[in-house]
Amino acid sequence: MKALVLAGGFGTRLRPLSCTRPKLLIPVANQPVIDWTLRDLSTHGVDTVILAVNYMAEAFVRYLGPTKFNMGILYSREERPLGTGGPIRRAEGFLKDGDPFLVLNGDVISSIDYHRLLEFHRENGGLATIALHEVPDPSRFGAVELDSRDRVRRFVEKPKPGEEPSNLVNAGIYVFDPKVIEYIPEGRSVSTELEVFPRLAEEGQLYGFEFRDLWIDIGMPEDYLKANALLLGRENGTKFGQDVVLDSSTEVLAPSVIGNNVKIGGKSLIGPNCTIADNVEIGNGCRIENSIIFPGTIIGDFTSVKGAIIGENVMLERWVKIEEE
Ligand code: GTP
Repeated sequence: MKALVLAGGFGTRLRPLSCTRPKLLIPVANQPVIDWTLRDLSTHGVDTVILAVNYMAEAFVRYLGPTKFNMGILYSREERPLGTGGPIRRAEGFLKDGDPFLVLNGDVISSIDYHRLLEFHRENGGLATIALHEVPDPSRFGAVELDSRDRVRRFVEKPKPGEEPSNLVNAGIYVFDPKVIEYIPEGRSVSTELEVFPRLAEEGQLYGFEFRDLWIDIGMPEDYLKANALLLGRENGTKFGQDVVLDSSTEVLAPSVIGNNVKIGGKSLIGPNCTIADNVEIGNGCRIENSIIFPGTIIGDFTSVKGAIIGENVMLERWVKIEEE
């Protein structure tokens, strides 16, 4: 089975973190987002992943290479951004012959059961199936109206408050029959959400598969922190890397993850929900909770960090207080 992962976005809402690395290489619980997705695809029987890349394409090639988690990784490079639909057309050579394939927004972390999604797609016989998740506020997503047979009657991208057809939204995970490629114009940027889904819905060829498991995108800093806490919680407990030096009077509260070569002084309290990357130094009497600390950062004595993301190689002096958000 093949999966195309959209990985070429600029990630503007996560700047400045996305200025030095593509969004999908940002770590969640000390593993890049793309690793969480690829591992999951591999356990569900995907053998080939096509990574649609544009912004900082080389960073992906350097990090992933030609294989990962027993899957072949192919790169489809764009000369200019092709949006969410154009990359599927561009990768047509890899996708047009054969079975239905998966398409994923690479910035989504979920525990969807891909087997059930594919089974649902086959049973219904439509050209495309969108995975749907229920959210309290659909206004920044694409919301759908389903009929009694789970066929999408209407697909409304970013509905105005009060105009949403339901609270079920596009989760950024799809199954496409190769025929869908013909719905995508060639050689330009195309939005699947604005140009392809409404047409498929009109023709009665689009189905919706609701799932209730974990689902989160890391598009914005607050979502990124939430995703970090959720995945740490799922992993359970606290993990320590190699060469960690921890004073015996310091406590680490689960769930948290501490990278390699981290030093933590005395009487500090770390966690819960902390991701501390490699080569971080934390002084004495520090309090760090619900936070992500990137590699190489140094935190002075008696400093506290709560609900924050601290980028790489940052120097926080003594007695600094960083509050939520
Ligand atoms: P923002 O700039 O913060 O909106 O982030 P983004 O650029 O990643 O856009 P968005 O979150 O809407 O993208 C959803 C998914 O599509 C992400 O996985 C992106 O990497 C991917 N994506 C967006 N635009 C492109 C593109 O032009 N080409 C490719 N290959 N992928 C894209």
